[in-house]
Order: sequence, then C-alpha cells, then structure tokens
Amino acid sequence: MQTVELIRKKRDGKELSTEEIRHLVQGYSEGKIPDYQMSAWAMAVFFQGMTSRERADLTMEMVHSGDVVKLDSIQGVKVDKHSTGGVGDTTTLVLGPLVAAAGVPVAKLSGRGLGHTGGTIDKLESFAGFSTSLTTDAFVNQVNQLGIAVMGQTADLTPADKQLYGLRDVTATVDSIPLIASSIMSKKVAAGADGIVLDVKTGKGAFMKDEEHAINLAQAMVEIGSNLGRTTVAIISDMEQPLGFAVGNALEVKEAIDTLKGVGPEDLTEICLTLGAHMVVIGGKADSAEGARRILEEKIADGSALAKFREFVEAQGGDQRAIDDPSHLTQADHLIEVTAPSSGTVATLEAEEIGICAMMLGAGRETKDDEIDYAVGIVLKKKVGDRVEEGEVLAVLHANDQSKVGEVQARFLQAVTISDKLAVAPRLIKALVT
Ligand code: URA
Ligand code: CA
Repeated sequence: MQTVELIRKKRDGKELSTEEIRHLVQGYSEGKIPDYQMSAWAMAVFFQGMTSRERADLTMEMVHSGDVVKLDSIQGVKVDKHSTGGVGDTTTLVLGPLVAAAGVPVAKLSGRGLGHTGGTIDKLESFAGFSTSLTTDAFVNQVNQLGIAVMGQTADLTPADKQLYGLRDVTATVDSIPLIASSIMSKKVAAGADGIVLDVKTGKGAFMKDEEHAINLAQAMVEIGSNLGRTTVAIISDMEQPLGFAVGNALEVKEAIDTLKGVGPEDLTEICLTLGAHMVVIGGKADSAEGARRILEEKIADGSALAKFREFVEAQGGDQRAIDDPSHLTQADHLIEVTAPSSGTVATLEAEEIGICAMMLGAGRETKDDEIDYAVGIVLKKKVGDRVEEGEVLAVLHANDQSKVGEVQARFLQAVTISDKLAVAPRLIKALVT
C-alpha cells in the first residue's frame, strides 16, 4: 500500500477502508510512516472529515496499538465516566462512591493534573497514605469486593494516540472533531469500559469553547461508542466558571465529602446526579434516568454513598478519619481574602484563569515533573449571578508560599467581572446526547 495514495484519497474527500486506516496507524506506530506523511493525512482529515465507519476503525486501531485492560473478571457492567477537563471538577470523587453504592462497579484508571486542570489521583493523594499504585489483581479484587477501586495508569494504553496527539499539537490539527473523538474514545475502550458516560465541557475554561462544537464532539463520540458496542451517553455542561466552590486538591476532597453528605454545592451535586443517573441506567440498575436519580438521592440521604467513600479510602491506605473530620486533611498556613473592588452582580468568573491562579499557588503543575502542594488552592465565596458589595469577600486563597500571593490576587481580580446590570448564572447542563 502506498501511503501517498491514502493521503491523496483523503485529500480528495474519499473514504479510506479499514485496511487503509490500519496501514496508517500501524505504520506510524512502528516508525515506518514518517511524521510528514502522517501530518499531511491529519490535515486532510481536518478539511475532509471522516465517515462514521472510519472513525470507529481509527479508534480501534489506536486501541490495538497498546495494552488493553481486561476487566472481564469484574462482575457487572463496567461504566466509565470521562470529562473533557475542567476547573474545580470534583465529580469523579463524588461519582465513584455514589454509583458504587448503587451497585454499579467502578474500575477507574485515572491521571494526574496538568496546567489549569486538576487530576483525580492528585486529589485522592490528599488523604495521607492513599496509594493508587495497585497491581491489576489487587485492583480487580477490590472492585469485586468493595465495588470501587482507582488506579494510576501503569499499562501502556493507546501509544498511537499519544504519538498522533503530539504530532497534531504542532501541526494545527488538534481541533478536528473526528480526531478528538477517536482519541478520547480509544482511551476509554482500552481502559476496559463496557459503557461510557461523557461530560463534554463548554465555555471559556473548556477545550470546546462553544456549545455547537461541544454538541458535535459529543455526537461523534456517542456514535463511535455505539458502533463499537459500548453504550455511550454524553451531557454538555458549562465550564464558563469553575464547578463548585473549591479549586485545589484537599479543598476539593472536602467539597466531595460535603456533596456525598448532601450538603455540597448545588452545581456539583446536580452534575453528579445527572452523570451518575446515566451510569446507573447503563449499568443495568435502573430502567430510567429519573428512577436512577432517585436511587442516588437515596444513597446520599441514607449515608451509604459516604460510607462507600470511607471504605474505599481505607482500602487504598488513606487516612479515612478525614472523612468525618477534615482537619485530618493537610491545611494551608495562610488564608488570604480577595475582596470585591466594587458593588454589583458577579458576571464572569473565568474558569481557566482561576485554574491558573490555583496552579500558581502550587495546586497544579506547570510541567509534568512539578511537585504539587495538596493543601493550597482557592475557595470561591461568590459565583456568577451572586450579588456582591464593595469590600465583600469574593474568594479565599489558601497558600503556603506567600511570595506569589500578590500576583495571584491581581490575576484573580482580572478573571472576575462585576457588573451593575443583572447577570444570571449560565445554564449548567445544556444538552444530552444519546
Ligand atoms: N483530548 C484528548 O484526549 N484527545 C484529543 O484529541 C483532544 C483532547
Ligand atoms: Ca470544585
């Protein structure tokens, strides 16, 4: 097969066969196809798109480029959740124990945070002693016994996706819906999911800045899932402002605990109940999203979701005393208030900028090898739509190193707009794609 012919074919808007897509992905993986040919193909895809069949084939070729996690020995339907990345997005910490309490097994591979977005593993490591380095056997056993385990990614999943993503990043071909959709879905399929619930974020703090693109991406992923026999549902949710009030690792753990107790922020609770309901339906534990939601509300009200979180933290070596008494979580030395420069209504709280502020305090990594400080971050006191008076507290910075505080305060205030007009909070859940 001539690679140049396949590039030409896609350039001219034609459909590549399964074998032709295999030739490209395998050849690239094995170093037989050079970067310049693969980037020419990616650019052709950027302009010409891919058919539904091509997208499913590309996804499976990337899955087969590396290890595939076998979860067959876990009883039940394994439903994974994926978020396209947000700021202060504490949902996995809440959803895991919540849906596990409803009888859906949660076998989750998670990652660390980078840049303005956080990672579930970092958040869990806020519990002193918590370990995510499990063997696959221990991981599977824990899911069978407890219903939930979270492990750091050790297996070499979808190396072809990593390689292609690196190439797209420097050839202006990242923002192609078929390429993004195949990339995300390949990672979920390789991680062993039978069903997938996606939270596609939209807004200034998100990868997909506008709602129309977010819906297109969601539809592309749902279609790939359905073509590959994995029931997939997506919601489109707002990421103009951070989710909940807390941004930072231990601070978000506390927020997750509050939510599992039924006293968490309204937006975080709503997203968890919505995503969780779809997970419970796909997991076969309810017939409708409404019925599933009632089950989850019950698991919060009767304390079983929180009890599941406690068992899970203990099983993975974490200090579970923190669940009843957050003073067992690491705390920052300095709490610094950021106050409103004028009176009015909070009109914007730019999520990405606030994520960067938390990172500057030490809650996140600028580069992969940076150390993070679990204690630090930002707790918002006001959200979009709230009334604020001049001098009133907008947010509290939790800091250890005080050298960056002045800069962070200034940057935070740049991310906030206070308007004398009425502002309303953006709609949290904008659409459902099934
Ligand atoms: N996130 C991914 O995992 N892949 C993409 O292609 C874009 C965003
Ligand atoms: Ca949060």
